Amino acid sequence: MNRFNFPFLGFGVGLRRPHYGHVLDSHPRMDWFEVISENYMVDGGRPLDVLTRVRDRYPIVMHGVSLSIGSTDPLNVGYLEQLAATARRFEPAWISDHLCWTSVAARNLHDLLPLPYVEETVRHVAARIRQVQDILERTILIENVSSYMEFSSSRLAEWEFLSAVAEEADCGILLDINNIFVSAFNHRFDAVRYIDSVPRGRVIQFHLAGHSDHGTYLLDTHDHPIRPEVWTLYEHAVRRFGRVPTLIEWDDNIPEFEVLAAVADEARRRCESALGREKSGAVECT
Ligand SMILES: [Fe+2]
Repeated sequence: MNRFNFPFLGFGVGLRRPHYGHVLDSHPRMDWFEVISENYMVDGGRPLDVLTRVRDRYPIVMHGVSLSIGSTDPLNVGYLEQLAATARRFEPAWISDHLCWTSVAARNLHDLLPLPYVEETVRHVAARIRQVQDILERTILIENVSSYMEFSSSRLAEWEFLSAVAEEADCGILLDINNIFVSAFNHRFDAVRYIDSVPRGRVIQFHLAGHSDHGTYLLDTHDHPIRPEVWTLYEHAVRRFGRVPTLIEWDDNIPEFEVLAAVADEARRRCESALGREKSGAVECT
């Protein structure tokens, strides 16, 4: 169990528009769904109706893309109040967003941009996460993003930065295994060392996704099957962190629901298999 007593939800997929009809009509077997918070922070219309009906049958978590926790802009209190109201309505198991910045001077760039990894940024971001947690009256999760450039001013490794922010803010971590793999290739760091350095007990959720290989760099496109190397890294993460709720992200070239569900089952099988192997080696599972 994690330090915050968040529940183990199992193995889920992102709720995406092409699957609305199937999910509502057929009620397929699925442990839980992750929804993009901003899609449901509206006053009315079909999205709210869909989510109300989905929520009647499945646990959900809310995953945001606009918190911009790393920005130097003031926190957007209006956004947070809307987020809080949506959470009160749908009662997600938890709320997450990204360890990045997406806006500056009140302009949303619609991209998850990396931060300079220095102590000053740790203090800045951690203080803002604490403010967000106070407003939402709950612990939130922050997710490591994939990146394609680094600041020359960075003095911490990405895993040191992520861990320091989570410790200072006392928040949870959504560990995206594919993002670690993509950034490890792009910046030539050791993905296994990254995973081995993140504190146990703070990792509340995993993300898995497919990326595109452009030869000299990898791009986090969420439009491919999960690569074998990412599955291998996932199994390593399971051996370190134990049974952690796992979510399959697929946002472009979205396949039939059954294909996505089969990937979630693959994650379940690999998780149990990795833990089974470890049990014979008497490794403790968190
Ligand atoms: Fe992710």
